[in-house]
Amino acid sequence: MKKHIESIGDSRSLELYEKVPKGKRLRAKLILKIANQSEEAIELASIVELIHAASLLHDDVIDEADTRRGVTSINHEFGNMTAIMLGDILYSKGFTKLTYLPSEVARSVADAVTKLSVGELLDVELASSFNTNQDIYFDMIYKKTASLIEAAAFSAAYLAKKDTDKYALYGKNLGLAFQVIDDVLDITSSSEILGKPALNDFREGKTTLPYLYMYEKLNNDDKTKLLSLFAKDLSFEESSWIKEKFEETGSVERSIEYAKALGYEALKAIEKENAPELEKIIKEMIVRDF
Ligand code: IPE
Ligand code: IPE
Ligand code: MG
Ligand code: MG
Ligand code: MG
Repeated sequence: MKKHIESIGDSRSLELYEKVPKGKRLRAKLILKIANQSEEAIELASIVELIHAASLLHDDVIDEADTRRGVTSINHEFGNMTAIMLGDILYSKGFTKLTYLPSEVARSVADAVTKLSVGELLDVELASSFNTNQDIYFDMIYKKTASLIEAAAFSAAYLAKKDTDKYALYGKNLGLAFQVIDDVLDITSSSEILGKPALNDFREGKTTLPYLYMYEKLNNDDKTKLLSLFAKDLSFEESSWIKEKFEETGSVERSIEYAKALGYEALKAIEKENAPELEKIIKEMIVRDF
């Protein structure tokens, strides 16, 4: 990844890039597990992680997040303009490097970035009111998160001459499960463990799956109360009330169960592929606390 940025020949770009800490590198791991660390697979892994980093730079501007990967976010330290332009630099470098890979791979990853951006746009526009439609939520998380993981799995399978349909389906379900867990962790984890703001989604107007499930179960008075807290800075009492309702309705557990079911679907897609390492990845991505 660093080599790609160095090839730009711009010291400021490199200096800023070095301020972006490493994440879990799950997308890269997934690619290398499917495609067995060939030179092309390593290239693909680095490109997908550059693109993923770009999407997070923009996401933190959109979500007004002040931390990322355990440190101050680029937008918080250097301002939105710098974060947006650094994101554009990583995206465009990723696209240039994609042109050296087979066109099927380049098209799949580039298409996924279009979906990701449409998904982020949907996420922003959905935040203007309390969304109660689960289909809309799943369509949005497919686009913003699962599409890139789906393309990563498809592309790795393509490079390794494996069954691309099966791996794409694996990646799609894994990606959906991954975002559901990310949405759960926003509620159940802490900023320290996550390395990014916790309990931020609802305040930002994001009605994630646990909130959708909770809303379904509340009586009319409680529904009205939950709606009144939507997209607001919550007092201690208000946060406590939401947590109490999460416990009463079991909607966090129900969301985790749903993520596990998606993980199971992912496993089913590759059950005949004899890939125990990919089964491990499912566990790692679903049973995690950051
Ligand atoms: C964060 O992705 C954005 C989501 C799709 C939820 P990761 O949790 O993979 O972030 P890093 O790369 O490990 O920081
Ligand atoms: C996923 O959404 C972001 C992208 C796919 C770019 P979130 O906004 O939930 O991601 P985090 O929680 O900030 O990592
Ligand atoms: Mg975010
Ligand atoms: Mg976001
Ligand atoms: Mg999140």
